[in-house]
Amino acid sequence: MQYEDQLKATAKAMVAPGKGLLAADESSATAAKRFEAVGVENTEENRRQYRQLLLTSDGIEEFLSGVILFDETIRQKDDNGTPFAEVLKSKGIIPGIKVDAGAKDLALHPGEKVTEGLDGLRERFAEYAQMGAGFAKWRAVYTIIGDQAPTVACHKANAHGMARYAALAQEAGIVPIVEPEVLLDGDHSIERCYEVTAETLDVLFQALKNQDVMLEGVILKASMVLSGKDAQDRADAQTVAEQTVKCLKEHVPDNLAGVVFLSGGQSEEEATAHLDAMNKIGGLPWPLTFSYSRAIQNPVLKLWAEGDKEKALAAYLHRGKANSLASEGKWSEDFEQNRPY
Ligand code: 13P
Repeated sequence: MQYEDQLKATAKAMVAPGKGLLAADESSATAAKRFEAVGVENTEENRRQYRQLLLTSDGIEEFLSGVILFDETIRQKDDNGTPFAEVLKSKGIIPGIKVDAGAKDLALHPGEKVTEGLDGLRERFAEYAQMGAGFAKWRAVYTIIGDQAPTVACHKANAHGMARYAALAQEAGIVPIVEPEVLLDGDHSIERCYEVTAETLDVLFQALKNQDVMLEGVILKASMVLSGKDAQDRADAQTVAEQTVKCLKEHVPDNLAGVVFLSGGQSEEEATAHLDAMNKIGGLPWPLTFSYSRAIQNPVLKLWAEGDKEKALAAYLHRGKANSLASEGKWSEDFEQNRPY
């Protein structure tokens, strides 16, 4: 493979000890929702100003190995006219790019989604590589509907799309993050989430193998094995950690470069506590770290919207440090006593 060494090196750097990823790749529609919740007008300039805080602040290099950007953001510049991707690189942080075109309704399967975005992807990868992207992200979503869904159709369609995307990314020298997200929505048990996550991973890794994707140059962005949001008696942090670690160990090949987690609607502290508990168990063949959006950004956006930039930055650095500690199993609840927000 042409970019084999580069892909391996980038993937390894993405999961370097004590580091993780910031997901800042909200589409304009998602950004609109987040801004509306805090009463900020969703203009391109406001998005640029907010993301300038996330991408250019001093100290972020202590906990970030990379940031996932949206198409608009990789084309934007800071107040000095330097492209955000350049600012990140100057800090030793790898710029990444979300390339999927979103999850659309899966035909003939009500309530299920399939992620689109393969059309023209080779050309888009060539452009993103020129703009400095070292890795990319593609997210597929799986909704648990009782015993009926996810269906085989949903598993197969999404895994096929992700594998084709991953192959195109590697062809361009860009590390693919594959993100099969089992949604938290619903009242399902943790056992049901385990079963669905296991199936999702099995089908995905088979599809990656079919397309000859090199796993040493792939990062899995996983959802944790959790009880549904509306379930009664939701599993505690230790159970979540044990079940997630077990599921990954049994269904993810050892030669994968690394695993990062999405937060998926967990609170900031839950997302940190779960990652920490998993790393305290340890004994895994790959590093486990974070790739959170909401569990890092929620307090930051709220404070920024209130006009308190200093506190917003303090909150950002605090969550960054907390998750950095958790990625090495060194976080404790005491750390949250000194929360600056
Ligand atoms: P959350 O951490 O808010 O789930 O977002 C992560 C992400 O990138 C979803 O694609």
